[in-house]
Amino acid sequence: MEELAETGRSGPMFNANRLKLGVFGTNVSNGCAVSLAPTSFEPTFEHNLEIAAKAEHYGFEALVPVGRWKGFGGPSDFNGTCMEVYTWAAALAARTSEIAIFATSHVSTIHPIVAAKQAATIDQISGGRFGVNVVCGWFSDEMDMFGGSQMEHDTRYRHADEWVQIARRLWTEQEFDHEGEFFKIKGGYLLPKPVQKSGPVLINAGISPAGRDFAARHMDFSFTLVNTLEGGREVVEDMHQRAAAYGRQIGMIANAVVVCRETEQEARDAYQHIVDNGDWVATENILTTFGVQSQSMDDAAARAMAERFVAGWGGYPLVGTPEQVAEGLAEMSKIGIDLVLLSWLDYNEEISFFGERVMPLLKQAGLRS
Ligand SMILES: Cc1cc2nc3c(=O)[nH]c(=O)nc-3n(C[C@H](O)[C@H](O)[C@H](O)COP(=O)(O)O)c2cc1C
Repeated sequence: MEELAETGRSGPMFNANRLKLGVFGTNVSNGCAVSLAPTSFEPTFEHNLEIAAKAEHYGFEALVPVGRWKGFGGPSDFNGTCMEVYTWAAALAARTSEIAIFATSHVSTIHPIVAAKQAATIDQISGGRFGVNVVCGWFSDEMDMFGGSQMEHDTRYRHADEWVQIARRLWTEQEFDHEGEFFKIKGGYLLPKPVQKSGPVLINAGISPAGRDFAARHMDFSFTLVNTLEGGREVVEDMHQRAAAYGRQIGMIANAVVVCRETEQEARDAYQHIVDNGDWVATENILTTFGVQSQSMDDAAARAMAERFVAGWGGYPLVGTPEQVAEGLAEMSKIGIDLVLLSWLDYNEEISFFGERVMPLLKQAGLRS
């Protein structure tokens, strides 16, 4: 495995490609498109296997699922059918050989000993290709299913902080006691250890100051939304500074939606088709959950943000010819994004066109080998 000297870590997430690529959200119904536009995509394991095989064939570095327990309503009940992430990752780990596989894990739903054990086992199954997208739970409808009420926002991150510290100790130490604000561990012990010596790759998509601080302290990568290139650059700089304050380095991940066709017009029409068929009820539910008050923005800005969610969960839009999509990815790389997680309306159909037509351009541009 290739190794990035500065971090001492190895595996697909740390290879020498300046721009790494992954596939986001294939474990949930509708993937990332909050739209009723027709697609052959289904969140079945067989379909996920096909997508994983193609992603590996074209050299993608990662598969990251969405962590979801309940849909967002609307006519599509967006994400309402959602495969559980650890079992999904374990099965894919056994059926792939190169690509990194993640579980997006809500820390409040699983004890750190159970999560650390599952993670170590999947890391063994995959030969050191496993990672955890650590999320605190932000969709209260689904968190309420677990009983009790969701913790106050910043408390969630204190809880996640302790959770991660325990998981890390289980992965790296022989036996320990722990007594903290949320957990008491007596004789903490875990075997088998993960293949990756310091534990599976950790990522987190916190946006708030508490979320960013948590990522800066503990994560290998911060996963963020890039609304504009300028805004994205500011987040990257902020995260680098926050990590440096803890004597650490952190990689940056962003999501993007791809609509790539032979001509720009075809791509624009296809993008418009997704938006015209948008599930606006589910989109409104997502944006309300995100705390976006449409009245605080002018109508055009609110509409533009909503369209981004409809097309691909707020992902940066890469819409156009293969050259334009490659150029868009190069711009994301230029602002400091290390890995872009892609979604398509129809993953299985569209990933091959991307692999055949965009990947070679990224290689030509020196972004990938
Ligand atoms: C690109 C992206 C992907 C996310 N994926 C998930 C997910 O799969 N499951 C989940 O519960 N939350 C997910 N979140 C929500 C984040 O974990 C986080 O709660 C949210 O960005 C708000 O940030 P904050 O927690 O710092 O306030 C995602 C956020 C972003 C930006």
